[in-house]
Amino acid sequence: MCGIVGYIGAGNPSSKPEEVVLEGLARLEYRGYDSAGVAVLAMAGLAVAKKAGRLENLREELEEHPLPHSFAAIGHTRWATHGGPSDVNAHPHVSADGRVALVHNGIIENYQKLADELSAAGITPISQTDTEIVAHHLSLLLAAGLSLLEAMCQLARRLEGSFTLVALDRESPEEIVAARRNSPLVVGLGEGENFLGSDVAAFVGYTKRALELGQDRIVRLSPTKVEVVDFFGTPDSGREFDVDWDINAAVKGGYATFMDKEIHESPTAVAETLRGRTTLDGHLMLDDMRIREDVLRSVDKIIVVACGTAAYAGHVAKYAIEHWCRIPVEVELAHEFRYRDPVVNEKTLVVAISQSGETMDTLMAIRHAREQGSRVLAIVNTHGSTIARESDAVLYTHAGPEVAVASTKAFIAQITACYILGLYLAELRGNKFVDEVATYLDELTKMPGRIEEVLEAEEEVRALAQSMADATSVLFLGRHVGFPVALEGALKLKELAYIHAEGFAAGELKHGPIALVEENLPVFVIVPTPRRPLLHSKVVSNLQEVRARGARTIAIAEEGDEEAAKFADTVIWVPRTTPTLMMPLVTVVPLQIFASELARVKGYDVDKPRNLAKSVTVE
Ligand code: AGP
Repeated sequence: MCGIVGYIGAGNPSSKPEEVVLEGLARLEYRGYDSAGVAVLAMAGLAVAKKAGRLENLREELEEHPLPHSFAAIGHTRWATHGGPSDVNAHPHVSADGRVALVHNGIIENYQKLADELSAAGITPISQTDTEIVAHHLSLLLAAGLSLLEAMCQLARRLEGSFTLVALDRESPEEIVAARRNSPLVVGLGEGENFLGSDVAAFVGYTKRALELGQDRIVRLSPTKVEVVDFFGTPDSGREFDVDWDINAAVKGGYATFMDKEIHESPTAVAETLRGRTTLDGHLMLDDMRIREDVLRSVDKIIVVACGTAAYAGHVAKYAIEHWCRIPVEVELAHEFRYRDPVVNEKTLVVAISQSGETMDTLMAIRHAREQGSRVLAIVNTHGSTIARESDAVLYTHAGPEVAVASTKAFIAQITACYILGLYLAELRGNKFVDEVATYLDELTKMPGRIEEVLEAEEEVRALAQSMADATSVLFLGRHVGFPVALEGALKLKELAYIHAEGFAAGELKHGPIALVEENLPVFVIVPTPRRPLLHSKVVSNLQEVRARGARTIAIAEEGDEEAAKFADTVIWVPRTTPTLMMPLVTVVPLQIFASELARVKGYDVDKPRNLAKSVTVE
């Protein structure tokens, strides 16, 4: 959940290490923003600055008390787990003898035992963090004569839980050493300089060459060398890859918030996710397919595992894949799947969906599935991420970096990827002919233009949100693929505007939730196309039902749907979309804009909502 950056360069001490780390932290702040800190390794030894609150507080501190020029630096932006957000609990943590500075992402589960050992050695921690305990242990191993690499190996073997640790040793200014288990870390490969980051966004402004580290690996960085070993010191190579994210994608580019910018990047996210998917003879391709075709043909059940917004993309996948491939699809929250003894075997295909590729709940679910013999196909946005690496096949959503905590363009790209997967399986398993798949793909290529049309009506949606600034509760209703859109609309409002919001399957209304409806309660209704008359008429009836009970109804309806307009106080029009299955790509966009605007009107931080982190790397 925390963001980690490291840098080491050649030559005389300079301000560059600190600058690189602060810039990297700014790009990773979405991972956690309770506190931030930096440690530099200078001629005179280690110097540390850290502050509770946003990175801005740290910058002010550094202006008042500048750090010396240095050879190397590490930095951290925190989402508190052990110990509340405070200056003292902020990372880096320094060992009692001042020799080691350490940053950490994850949780050390055997922390108490390690703390007891320290107290027997007469060391009293000053913070409430598990990280400080590790810093003291590392310095004890160094004092015993081990090198930083050896000490990290030995310590990593003792640690239980998940961790990325990055350490500087005062006595060894020519190296940074880092360890990872179940927590992300990527190396950036430069010329005469090297980088570390929780993800590539940390260093993409400096280098596009990166190195993916396997599980239980330690890396030693000097300005000119990168050495990877396992926890026993056995050399390993890692996997080099080129980063295709542009640095401009990680800055706001004229928008007030990253979320607004990312909503506007949705058309590109769809187009990029679709790009280059067909072979010359028209067959669909995924990116990194390591599952044999005969195995995919024998699959008799698909289970989608994901969390939050990604899980709602999974709900859309269920409708599409079942319809196109006639395979039963279950969708399950990854944390529930993992701990309920699910029935999975070698004929089950588990599809994991994750923007970050680091969500611990989803990672644990796929590990469990693979242990049971299932193949795992991941739909992931972040290259080099753990879920991508640990899956049997990967379909990348090429949405570019998503910085705002609230997922928008990544959700739209995930849905696009789900359609691609459905069509790929339909063709492979003989449910659809190549030309039928081509027709659907053709429709998909029209979706970026349709999303653009929805974005053109942005100001009307913002005005609607402004008129609802005082709403304390909002309901969202949808049927069929409109149901996950309703769930997503409610989630967006909860996480950004901090108001009670619920999404329901519209048919469920009369089984209970209608009791919530009262005078002026805003109710969004996602109306399917009138070209599906049965479905459409049912949802229009639901619209009437809530209107009759005094609700303020807002319909998201297809252009020309006069029937829906009759019962709506406000209509947000979306362009005609075929097939109906693809409607979520347009109907969710106004709900994202609405949530962003309501949060802005209420004075909240749209990009960094309270208590949340972009990437949830703890269970
Ligand atoms: C989305 O707005 C949320 N912030 C959250 O639900 C997110 O989708 C979820 O935590 C899963 O993240 P992932 O896609 O990185 O796995």
